Amino acid sequence: MKVLLLNGSCRKNGCTYMALREAADTLNQEGIESEILQMGSSSVRDCIGCGKCADSCRCIFSGDTVNAWLDKAEQADGFVFGSPVYYAHPTGQFLSVLDRIFYAGSACFSHKPAAAVVSARRAGATASLDVLSKYFADAHMLMVGSSYWNMVHGTAPEQVGQDLEGLQTMRNLGRNMAWILKCIEAGKNAGILPPPAEQEQWTSFIR
Ligand SMILES: Cc1cc2nc3c(=O)[nH]c(=O)nc-3n(C[C@H](O)[C@H](O)[C@H](O)COP(=O)(O)O)c2cc1C
Repeated sequence: MKVLLLNGSCRKNGCTYMALREAADTLNQEGIESEILQMGSSSVRDCIGCGKCADSCRCIFSGDTVNAWLDKAEQADGFVFGSPVYYAHPTGQFLSVLDRIFYAGSACFSHKPAAAVVSARRAGATASLDVLSKYFADAHMLMVGSSYWNMVHGTAPEQVGQDLEGLQTMRNLGRNMAWILKCIEAGKNAGILPPPAEQEQWTSFIR
């Protein structure tokens, strides 16, 4: 079983990475494979709402990370979405990626466990967690919790290293994610499969 940890920071080995690394190491100790995906600083398109992804489950813009990450997501069993806090929200670049990933390929995430993780100097962490968690609720995902909200604090990785409670929260998250994955696997082996969703009824306006 494998968990993908997506880092929405441009800073490859920054504070968010420290948090994801702690969760990934714990997953590994629990026998779960992990891979941290780095967004980097190359430019990312916004969703243009063309709807072309409805047939292919992939975005028409193939020049950035979105379709490659969807290919990986299809094979993965669980997810951690990590972002620094920018003006009390996740990074704009990461939100562009997530809009397109979930709009094109929500089937890759359906009935899989997910958690959001944020890194902040001081404030805006819960508001950012709230934004990230909205993607899961809309995609039949199972949200995994920890011993506190999934946040670390610092402007440099060394400061995150001193955030003992934040790092402990990441380890507890990793253990909870591993446990849920093993429960899902045991359920599958016992013939308990995800329920089929009803056909979508879109009521885009109030009658
Ligand atoms: C444009 C910008 C906006 C930021 N806004 C906030 C903020 O609203 N609240 C906060 O606590 N930290 C804020 N920060 C600090 C980062 O969230 C913090 O340093 C974070 O740990 C960086 O993570 P990274 O090293 O993974 O990029 C901001 C940083 C930048 C560059």
